[in-house]
Amino acid sequence: MTSIDGKIIQLPFRVDLESWRSYYHHLCDEYPDAKWTWDKGVEELDVREAVVKCTNTQERSMRGWMLQTNRTDDGEPSVMANSNVRPKQKYIELGLPLWSWRIDLPLGPVERLAESVPSVYRWTVYEMPANGITPTHIDDDENVLLIPLYWPEKGQEFLLEVDGEWQDWSDVFRADGRALLLDGHTPHWSCNRSNQTRVNIMARMPRTDLEQICSVKGVF
Ligand SMILES: [Fe+2]
Repeated sequence: MTSIDGKIIQLPFRVDLESWRSYYHHLCDEYPDAKWTWDKGVEELDVREAVVKCTNTQERSMRGWMLQTNRTDDGEPSVMANSNVRPKQKYIELGLPLWSWRIDLPLGPVERLAESVPSVYRWTVYEMPANGITPTHIDDDENVLLIPLYWPEKGQEFLLEVDGEWQDWSDVFRADGRALLLDGHTPHWSCNRSNQTRVNIMARMPRTDLEQICSVKGVF
């Protein structure tokens, strides 16, 4: 069994960066209203714990698009493994607006990769503006897929706390087609100290499903 405890690993597959960037620009141009911001999300997502921790604007500046890829055999959105995030059906039952998780937005290269790794869910296109901070947190029993689309060369920090020591993993992040997998069980912290927006694709998977994503090869 492969293990990534306390690490970030580079996965064996790559992405065609230009087509993934085109996908991102397509969202920017065609779906600006579907863009999630913290202020929109706080009302509708169960992020109470995060709200308590994220008290300043630097920690609440992340934004992006939330893509639902997993469906049942009937084509309906299926229940996600992470109970923090409600699938579309839950939004309907609860009478909440459906602005957030979109089943129509996983397109092109994202859709193709998602079909190859069906245990991966909670795909997001994630923007971290200049001076944004992701405060220290864990992602419970999940590993986190990270694909940098625009990653400023300077001013990026990404740290993991392993056995009480902070390790600097900043250099592993490059927008060159690489796909990374982060052990979400290890406390991590990140910031963007540049004057440019950082953009990446992020998705989650159960920690137990490491073999599936590590067996995928090729270019998407
Ligand atoms: Fe995280």
